[in-house]
Amino acid sequence: MSQKDRLLNHPVFFEDDENAHFARFLDFHVKSGETLFVLTDQNTHKHCLPVLRKKLPNGFPLKIIEVPAGEKHKTLDTCFSVWEILTDKLADRNTVLINLGGGVVCDLGGFAASVFKRGIRFIHMPTSLMAMADASIGGKTGIDLKGLKNMVGTFSQPMAVFIDPAFLRTLPERELNNGFAEMLKHGLIAEYSYFEELAQAGPEEVTTEQIRISVEIKSDIVMRDPLEKNIRKALNFGHTIGHALESYSLLNDEKPLLHGEAVILGMMAETMLSEKMNFLSNEETEEILSGLIDFAVLYDLNNSCIEALSEYMQYDKKSMAGIPGFSLLRRPGQVITGVECKADHIQRVLQELKEILKNN
Ligand SMILES: NC(=O)c1ccc[n+]([C@@H]2O[C@H](COP(=O)([O-])OP(=O)(O)OC[C@H]3O[C@@H](n4cnc5c(N)ncnc54)[C@H](O)[C@@H]3O)[C@@H](O)[C@H]2O)c1
Repeated sequence: MSQKDRLLNHPVFFEDDENAHFARFLDFHVKSGETLFVLTDQNTHKHCLPVLRKKLPNGFPLKIIEVPAGEKHKTLDTCFSVWEILTDKLADRNTVLINLGGGVVCDLGGFAASVFKRGIRFIHMPTSLMAMADASIGGKTGIDLKGLKNMVGTFSQPMAVFIDPAFLRTLPERELNNGFAEMLKHGLIAEYSYFEELAQAGPEEVTTEQIRISVEIKSDIVMRDPLEKNIRKALNFGHTIGHALESYSLLNDEKPLLHGEAVILGMMAETMLSEKMNFLSNEETEEILSGLIDFAVLYDLNNSCIEALSEYMQYDKKSMAGIPGFSLLRRPGQVITGVECKADHIQRVLQELKEILKNN
């Protein structure tokens, strides 16, 4: 198997009461009697672990590792504690770690597993909309460093991803909106009619079929470019400014923006930037902005925040020598990657976004 094949080897199963893929998968791929480690945070421990236990076939003892919930714990310290517990509880090279949680648990658990004993197997069981529709797909793992997003990580594929939308029943509304942001992005970068459908329906109406479309859009892009050399960068639309804003908010706000909330604002700014670069017409830009604004948090983009964002963007992983390479919309439903934009244009769209948010 080539390195590329290994990177692509990542099935996604949709679970429901009638389709017990998870139980069958374990029976087939993991030796009976093998201890399974489950990584949760306190919320998924409470709400999702009982569901996982019901899905489990007989003969698989569980050991639970719980980490504190939230982005601020997606750190090396938390990761270190996971490695210590794995060691204390005698995990070995045959251990399978099941990441039962949102994007934080999947990213952190995937990273912890990918380097523990030079790599143990892991499974994602995403429980938030963000993780189902996006974060669990594609094999990127990682943790934040010095408040900067995903500074350390690996490309490592899970054995499989099991998506059960029933987990969404206990997900708080703010978290549902958060995951919806990445689904809107999937439409904007690959299938504009899907964006229009989502923007009209809103997050409360999200269906299994729509999650499946998002998974397909992301998987299709990842399969064409697993190591993010070119087309996978399309998935970063909205993220250069979005990640900078998320990092800024994480360090400066008492109640920081969630990833998806920052990404919606990032997508608005980068849509305007796409117009400044003459990719989008004014009409197309207005249409996209009016689709996004309903889901935007009216964040106070004050001048000191705008100033700080340029600095954060230098640390963006798509930056070369500190110059961010943007993934912009070439047209609705299509992306162009690696676009260098003038600092002046970036400042102007941020000022324009500030006005839009103020007037809504
Ligand atoms: N690896 C990737 O390709 C990728 C892609 C997109 C996002 N991400 C990452 O994903 C992270 C964000 O993920 P997230 O939004 O899921 O955050 P999260 O993991 O912090 O989950 C959000 C909150 O919802 C709770 N929760 C999760 N599922 C629940 C359920 N079923 N019932 C009740 N509560 C539940 C969690 O405990 C947490 O408090 C970010 O760190 C982002 O960088 C990664």
